[in-house]
Amino acid sequence: MEMPYDLPLMKRGAEIEVLIDRLDRKGRGTGSVDGRTMAVRGGLPGQVVRVRVTRRRRLEGYVLEVVTRSPHEVDARCPHSGSCGGCAFQQLAYPVQLTALREQVGNAFAAAGLEVVVPEVIGCDPPFGYRNKMDFTFGATRWVEVGEPEGVERDFALGMHVSGRFDRVLDIQSCALHFDEADGLLTSAREVARAHGLPPWDVLRHTGLLRHLVLRKGFGTGEIMVDLVTSEDAGPSVDRWAEAMLERHPEVTTLVQNVNTRPASVAFGERERVIHGPGVITERIGDLAFNISANSFFQTNSRQAAVLFSLVSELAAPTGDEVVWDLYCGTGALSLAAARTAREVWGFELVDAAVADARGNAALNDLSNVHFIAGDVLASLGEGVSLDAPPPDLAIVDPPRAGLHPKVLSGLLRLAPPRIVYVSCNIHASAPQIATLVAEGGYDVECVRPVDMFPHTPHVECVVALRR
Ligand SMILES: C[S@@+](CC[C@H](N)C(=O)[O-])C[C@H]1O[C@@H](n2cnc3c(N)ncnc32)[C@H](O)[C@@H]1O
Repeated sequence: MEMPYDLPLMKRGAEIEVLIDRLDRKGRGTGSVDGRTMAVRGGLPGQVVRVRVTRRRRLEGYVLEVVTRSPHEVDARCPHSGSCGGCAFQQLAYPVQLTALREQVGNAFAAAGLEVVVPEVIGCDPPFGYRNKMDFTFGATRWVEVGEPEGVERDFALGMHVSGRFDRVLDIQSCALHFDEADGLLTSAREVARAHGLPPWDVLRHTGLLRHLVLRKGFGTGEIMVDLVTSEDAGPSVDRWAEAMLERHPEVTTLVQNVNTRPASVAFGERERVIHGPGVITERIGDLAFNISANSFFQTNSRQAAVLFSLVSELAAPTGDEVVWDLYCGTGALSLAAARTAREVWGFELVDAAVADARGNAALNDLSNVHFIAGDVLASLGEGVSLDAPPPDLAIVDPPRAGLHPKVLSGLLRLAPPRIVYVSCNIHASAPQIATLVAEGGYDVECVRPVDMFPHTPHVECVVALRR
């Protein structure tokens, strides 16, 4: 295809046209420009787009205008799609997203030198309204979208970061991904904060009170948690805000405050205060119940969590003779799923609140053969460390996005469990580690099962079964 640009002019800020032919691992469209690959933020496969060049060495840019629509394009449901950093490609037909995710998984294994069969990605039905947890940011610098009225307030926002901007917050009115009640809670949280004159956190000056609003729902129980993250205690102000919120939203079953005095913009408090209700919500997945507190990890897509847990149960399928270790166990979801058939299960988790939830969840589900070890997996798997836990016949590992710490990988190789089930939310980090387990540990990849836990984003969950 002839492209109407002149290569010497292709510098930062230049405009060119690009035919997008696929998605890269970050969810950006990519196309070929004079034999070089260009990554285009907002570009979808099948589109011809006019692009502003932002990097010329490693060619990158963003879409200024869609010149020709893609046959795979659909209308986005969300009014903020395009500006919001939450979704990457809501305008891409869902079956095409699943195909692209499968390709990403295949590419990651191929890049790691492993030949594996990657089946179709198990899709989420429906791929909207699936998130049981949303973390919204308060900001003192609002991003004003094209088409918003003149004179719109710019010094208060509650929503998501604008794609690629840590200092600009988009004032989200509604989101197509989160649970039904979240839009109303978001609107009230903003209105009540404004009415009470509570200042948003200014990420550049480190001033202001309101930092994050975290909303959580148990899809299986209907219970709802509101977690307000603030920069200081400010008890009376927060209490007034909470009272007004609860008056408007009797559906909220618990409301907590987390205080984060540190500069890092995380919705994780150094201290927590329960203002209303039990401080936890209960989620029900299949025949298991989980109590989840504000700072504990739980899979964010309850519908697909049911699929994931049964996949892990099916592939792990521990026998009554087997000892299972669940590394990075969070609130104990996979530990409990395995405990129903295993001899005993040992879960390892860093976050104290999650360990407390996990222990409570074992009791809640009448499982007495599960034990949890609090602390860094790295310390537990260190050379020469002696643990109460008997050596594992099967290790389930479900690390954060960065994958296993290299020393945890070495520890796993030293432990050499006969079977490993690796649950990965970032196959690009995990595939090289799986290749190491194959090359140095003598494991075979028995099967790979990708599951879409995060529709409209480039992230894909993979369950990989390994045996020596
Ligand atoms: C992807 S989640 C997995 C949770 C669990 N398997 C589930 O499905 O609900 C990763 C968990 O690892 C924990 N974690 C992160 N770094 C850790 C570390 N160094 N040692 C132990 N746990 C860690 C996080 O707190 C989080 O609960």
